[in-house]
Amino acid sequence: MGILFKNGTVVTASDMVQADVLVEGEKVVLIGQNLPTRGHEVINCKGKYLMPGGIDVHTHLDLPFGGTYSNDDFDIGHKAAAFGGTTTHIDFVIQPKGGSLHDGLKIWQEKAKPAQIDYGFHMAVTDLRDDVMAEIPSLVDEGITSLKLFMAYKNVFQIDDATLYKAMEQSAKHGMIVMVHAENGDVEEQLRKQLLAEGKTDPVWHYSSRPPEIEGEATNRAAVMAGLTGCPLYVVHVTCEPAVAAIRRARALGAPVMGETCVQYFYVTRDKHLGAPGFEGSKYVCSPPVRNAEHHAVLWQAVKDGTLQAVSTDHCDFWYEGGVGPWQEWGKAHNGGDWIGYEKQDPSYRRPGKELGKGDFSKIPNGMPGIEDRMMVMWHLGVNSGRLSPTRFVELNCTNPAKIFGCYPQKGTIAVGADADILVWDPNKRHTISASTHHMKCDYNVYEGLKVKGVPQQVYLRGKRIVDGGIWLGKNGEGRFVRRAPHAPVL
Ligand code: URP
Ligand code: ZN
Ligand code: ZN
Repeated sequence: MGILFKNGTVVTASDMVQADVLVEGEKVVLIGQNLPTRGHEVINCKGKYLMPGGIDVHTHLDLPFGGTYSNDDFDIGHKAAAFGGTTTHIDFVIQPKGGSLHDGLKIWQEKAKPAQIDYGFHMAVTDLRDDVMAEIPSLVDEGITSLKLFMAYKNVFQIDDATLYKAMEQSAKHGMIVMVHAENGDVEEQLRKQLLAEGKTDPVWHYSSRPPEIEGEATNRAAVMAGLTGCPLYVVHVTCEPAVAAIRRARALGAPVMGETCVQYFYVTRDKHLGAPGFEGSKYVCSPPVRNAEHHAVLWQAVKDGTLQAVSTDHCDFWYEGGVGPWQEWGKAHNGGDWIGYEKQDPSYRRPGKELGKGDFSKIPNGMPGIEDRMMVMWHLGVNSGRLSPTRFVELNCTNPAKIFGCYPQKGTIAVGADADILVWDPNKRHTISASTHHMKCDYNVYEGLKVKGVPQQVYLRGKRIVDGGIWLGKNGEGRFVRRAPHAPVL
């Protein structure tokens, strides 16, 4: 006996068809019209869309960063993702200082033990010694086929051009893809020092230390290296016109360059959000910074015309006040006080957050929440406004991420043989996004008060219902590591 999704509209990257979908065990086994019910559990999907579970290929759960750790972990962060319709994510393992890539991998494998949705790992290389270079090919055997290098965050994660070039040569040989955080970290350091010396310490000055030009320059530099080495390049969190222009030009010249943007870069602005009075703007400090509407328009065009192939979140959340305030009260309201993360080990510990940067914008932990919001906000801003078709929505949020990162068609589509990661999406249901109702371990929401239409009513992970309306049905440890294949296509 299986689960029969009846009378829904199946949306994939290519089609929207009225069809029934039969799931047996963890897989989709049949798609057709008027399929017999035969003792299956029948889910009436009339008026609903059946879409593949979202794939968020850019997250940072429990990341040591900015003098603290990002808040959401592989327990609560997974739950939040699922409530928003994301059933798979790929997180970044960080090579520890002085350690090997496998040292980092072990740390992230430990973090992932409470997993509730499926997950993969990218490997962020911070120190490309000869022994680390030699270690890279073995990652492919572990199902890790993407490297990440940071061209910014000087003295923390930043690598130099020679390192990036060598990593690309090595990756190209082994069918891996290289991802870059593209900002010129050396120029950023100079701008930051000048601003602080002039007494410009409020959150809004974060923008001036990282202008669009330094993002465009670094994007172009990485794209040139992709052309020279033949290594597929994926530029993460593209925010602005100069970066889009660099990717478009590289692609026109035939270089294997791809890119993503993140949902917040369509909505959050420098003027209204980052420039909010007092310390409020710290909530929106991330790198590269949020930009104003003229760049949002460029990003919409880029996701429409294929210059950018995917939308992710860069989910990396920190308390705004919870780190010094009543986080226990907040925890009770959201999780019945049942923390599984760091608070359980030491209830007196308060994980620091955005307040670390009071009086110095450069000390504000960089990042914001979004793993729960991405699908709803992209549907609302993209599909409801007519900017994106439902099929392009699925392509950007599910299918292309799976293809680019080597787990398609197991993930990212509804097809016979694919994992039954299925969203029963109600395009008419309304929801107001708010920190008071979200499941992320964060005391603010970037989209606070945004009224969206279109939500995941039910969420299935490999044939198991894990979300039903507001009810959580998943279990710790049921999320599984996704081994990804090398030689994924360049889209
Ligand atoms: O501000 C950000 N983006 N924080 C997370 C780390 C990164 O650069 O992706
Ligand atoms: Zn980054
Ligand atoms: Zn990131």
